[in-house]
Amino acid sequence: AQSLFQSGVLAGQRVVITAGPTREPLDPVRYISNHSSGKMGYALARAAVEAGASVDLISGPVALSAPDRVKLHRIGTAQEMLEASLGLLHNCDIFIGCAAVADYRPADAAVQKIKKSADEVSLQLVKNPDVLARVAGHSPKPFSVGFAAETEKLREHALGKLERKGLNMIVANDVSDSRIGFNSENNAALLLWRDDAGVREREVEQCSKDVLAAVVIAQIASLKG
Ligand code: CTP
Ligand code: CA
Repeated sequence: AQSLFQSGVLAGQRVVITAGPTREPLDPVRYISNHSSGKMGYALARAAVEAGASVDLISGPVALSAPDRVKLHRIGTAQEMLEASLGLLHNCDIFIGCAAVADYRPADAAVQKIKKSADEVSLQLVKNPDVLARVAGHSPKPFSVGFAAETEKLREHALGKLERKGLNMIVANDVSDSRIGFNSENNAALLLWRDDAGVREREVEQCSKDVLAAVVIAQIASLKG
């Protein structure tokens, strides 16, 4: 994977990466979350370090240890991920949103453990802040990269996110294919960005997350110039 880019392509660059799931509490012992393993974000952090960057990794709860030479910030909720991200934006050159942020959180988390009584309960959920969109909307704006997990219309949905969130590049994943994506060892992706000539793309065949991470870092370095 190291040979996919010349070492030093990100020398002197400060990179912030989000990774893993978020956990949105229902009560002191329960939460809403997802199956993100954090592997892709951690692989990106290692690749960025190998490319010479100084790297902050904002991570939800995952079963991975901190990569060498990476500053790890552990968070739980989407709100905490947002605060940690905004707090690192001063002199951040490149921001990569790889986390599987919970889109919604329980409207109010119970202070005490919820007791079993009614036969049916319904949950009221409210929308979480969009960490990546907030970062990309910040001024000065870091070079902002997102991931898009899609089960259909991969290119169309990913391009929508690229535009709506004001990103410089998006890495689109087809998560309907169980061999790749969430919680798997391998990944395949479509990298999308826009230049003067319009939408540009680079397809990455199924490969390890370490190889995909190196390709993504190389592409970022080349676009950032
Ligand atoms: N993201 C984020 N904060 C959120 C939701 C998403 O930072 N609250 C980031 C993810 O880290 C990812 C990108 O936005 O880089 C796209 O996430 P995705 O879940 O694919 O898209 P959403 O915008 O949440 O839209 P939807 O889930 O409806 O497809
Ligand atoms: Ca989402």
